[in-house]
This record gives sequence, C-alpha cells and structure tokens, in this order.
Amino acid sequence: MPITVKLTEAGKFDGTILYPSIATGATTLTGTPEEAGEIVQINGVYVVSLGKKEKLTNETLRRIGGSIAKWMARFQVNDCAVQLEPILKTGISPLPAVQALTEGLVLGNFKFDKYLATKKSTVLSVQLLAAGVDAHSSLEGAVASASITAEAVNLARELSHEPPNVINPQTISDLAMQLATQYGLTYREIDSKELEKMGAGAIVAVGKGSLTPSRLIILEHNLKDGQKPVVLVGKTLTMDTGGYSLKGTENIITMKYDKTGGMVVLAAMVAVARLKLDTPVVGILAAAENMISSKAYRPDDILTAMNGKTIEIISTDAEGRLVLADALTYAERTYTPQALIDIATLTGAVSIALGDNRAGLLSNNDTLAQKLYESGEFTYERVWRLPLDTEYFEQIKGTDSDIKNSGGRKAGTIIGGMFLQQFISEDVPWAHLDIAGMMMAEKEMPYCPKGGMGFGVRLFLDYLKNIS
Ligand code: BES
Ligand code: MN
Ligand code: ZN
Repeated sequence: MPITVKLTEAGKFDGTILYPSIATGATTLTGTPEEAGEIVQINGVYVVSLGKKEKLTNETLRRIGGSIAKWMARFQVNDCAVQLEPILKTGISPLPAVQALTEGLVLGNFKFDKYLATKKSTVLSVQLLAAGVDAHSSLEGAVASASITAEAVNLARELSHEPPNVINPQTISDLAMQLATQYGLTYREIDSKELEKMGAGAIVAVGKGSLTPSRLIILEHNLKDGQKPVVLVGKTLTMDTGGYSLKGTENIITMKYDKTGGMVVLAAMVAVARLKLDTPVVGILAAAENMISSKAYRPDDILTAMNGKTIEIISTDAEGRLVLADALTYAERTYTPQALIDIATLTGAVSIALGDNRAGLLSNNDTLAQKLYESGEFTYERVWRLPLDTEYFEQIKGTDSDIKNSGGRKAGTIIGGMFLQQFISEDVPWAHLDIAGMMMAEKEMPYCPKGGMGFGVRLFLDYLKNIS
C-alpha cells in the first residue's frame, strides 16, 4: 500500500501541514497560490490553493489530492497533513468532498514501476486534520471507503499495464482466483472445452489462434436466494492483434490494454468485497487472446453463439463483441440479473464520437441508463448515451447467417451496441459501456499518469452503493 490516508484530530500532528486556501486574486501581495492544487511556502507555512471559490467542486478536490500526492513524491515529503477546516468552511458537502480529496491522493500516487530497475514508488502517509474527529465518524468512513475504491482503481490500472507475455487468459484467471481467496469472493472458471460443450462458439473461436484458450472467469459476492444480482461483464482481450484482419504496426501497439474492461470488473469486485456491499454482485471476465495461427478463426467463418444465433465473420478484429455475446448469454441464463452491465474497449469509433472525456453508454433501459449517467457525473467518469434504434440493425443483418460481426464504418459504436443487444432478452435491464476512448491516458492527467486509467471502477462502485 504506497499511500495511506487517515483522519486525525487537529492539533495532534506536528509535521508538515498543508493549509488549503481559496485563491484571492491578489497574488503579487500575499503570494497566495492561484491555480487549484498549486502549493507554495509562505513564511514557513505550506499553502495549497483551492482555486476560485465558485469553481470548487468534488472534481477540483480530487485533482488537488492528485497534486498533493505528486508534490509529496517530488519533494520526498513522506508524511504530511492537510487541514480540512478551510475546505469544509467553503460550504461544500463534507462527505463527498473528503471522499474526492482522498481518492485524488491515492490515485495521484499511482506509478507503474514494476519492470523498472529504479523504482519510483514511495510509501506516503497523509493525515486529514479535523476538529472533533470522534463526532465525525462518518468522515472517517468516507476516508476509508474512498481509499478502498481508489486502491481498486490503481489495481485495475496496474493489471491493465501488464504486458501480454505476462498476462494471458490463463494467468489472469490464476490471479483472479488468488484475489478471490484473499478477499472472500467465490471464483469459478469455465474453460474452452466446457464452453464448447455449452455451444459458446463465439468466445471459443476468438481464442483459437492463441496458446492460451478463451475462458470465462467468474467472481461472486454475496449471492443469496431470491435476490437478483447485478452482473458486470468485462471484455478481457489480453492482446488484440486483430487476428487475420491484422491491425497495422501503429494500431497494434497498446492493444495489451484491450483487457481493461475485465480488469475494471475484477478490481471493482475486490472493492465490493472489501466494502462488504449488501447487494449481490457477480463479475464475469470474458477472456481471450486474439492471435494468428493455422488454428485461428477467419474472415468468412460462420460461428454459432451460445444463444443459437449464427454470426458471419466480416472482421476478426471485431472480436470483443464475440466474446461478450456468449458471456452475456451465460450471465442472463445463470443469474437472471436485476441489471446486466458490460464494459469494453469495443470500438475506436467511440473516440471519434466522444473523444477522451466521455465513454459511450448504450442501454435498453432508461432507468439504468440514468443511474449510470448520474454516477458518471458524480465520479467524473462521465458517459454519454447513444441510441439503439432498430433501423441500425440493417447494417449487421447477415446474408448467409443471422448477423454479421461488423457493419462498416458508419455509427461504429452504435453498431457494436446493436450487435450485443442481439444477445440480451428484452426484459433484462442492460447497459453497455464502450470505454475504448478512455482505455489509456495519452498524456499525464491530474491524478493519472500516462497509460491505463482504470476508468469505470469508481463509476461502478458509486452505482452499486446507490442501489444498495
Ligand atoms: N480493441 C479494439 C477497439 C479499440 C481500438 C480500442 C482502438 C482502443 C483503441 C476492437 O477490438 C476493434 O478492433 N474494433 C474495431 C471494430 C471494427 C472492426 C468493426 C475498430 O474499432 O476498428
Ligand atoms: Mn479488435
Ligand atoms: Zn479488441
């Protein structure tokens, strides 16, 4: 655990203390830092700017937390404290504010240095100082649950960064088993042979070219009779070369991150267990590696999915929807979910539509879509809904098969969603998050370095807490 955040009684800490301060606009005279997160020393006192009062939001505090963590690492301040009083005095709602600040601190300290000769990580400790802490037990709870949540995001980031010569469908399954044992989740794997017997011809086909065949990795939390679980399904392509519809040199690089959806589901399940959420939750990782060999699946192949529908392969690079198709059928049949949510780096087209700021949301259920939208606004893991009008189906209507796995260039993200919907019963509330645009930070962000972002973990946890 490289950073710990703790609530402490004000006055009981005598190390370096940061005093948050609203920007005054009179910088030249007072030396008060202006930009939120900026830290300056004034007469031996450390001041961290909250920025302008009217612009202070939870997201600002999250970014300030990130700045503090980076400042600590940079100046080797291993232990410091932040006064909460000036933040609470602004009138901002205390619990979400402290939650956001804590998240920022933990997230801002993330580094992927596992494979570096010289490690960059340091063990940091931050005390949040408040008066009458004993009366503030809810604040303490907010710090604790925000830490667990942000640690889960960092776990998702770390696993996403792992290279494909280390993480493959087999090794990720082993790891999921270890984590399940550690945190008290039930673990089950359905291997390719079993999947084949179940008729899951789509997910099996995608992994045919790999030395490590496809599988479903399943984690369960708090399942109980008579209560429908929320089921989260993650696209887990430990590498996506494109298969015979091979990606070019430029596009193949970074495709280790095609497992992000699964890593987000896995990490969210760890947090769900650590937070002891009351809601029953199931996480399913649809794991495969999309490779080339004489055994690999081909364009023109016609596959039969677990729900009996036949799929003509137009592009072996539209593999995510194939692994998800069978995972969704499995999820529906096994669990009768109260909500079924998949998360996937599914289409490059989503970053054309929404850029790097919002993930795509497609859903057959307005209530579920609204809840996810609101959790997105609250956590700043923002989503935007795209339509699923039946007319779009024309694009993937099959000729020799029921459906095609690709429908050309138009409306790529919607077509991806439309394809998945063919594997969903009308009465099951379902949502699909296309996070291809949020797969990695292309440059350093306020509380995330370049690389895997773990986008979706905080969104899922907020949604699950809200329905608990
Ligand atoms: N994993 C990719 C999507 C992707 C692309 C994620 C770029 C992140 C960055 C996915 O499997 C894919 O290749 N999708 C195709 C779909 C097409 C063949 C219908 C795409 O987006 O081009
Ligand atoms: Mn692909
Ligand atoms: Zn892919």
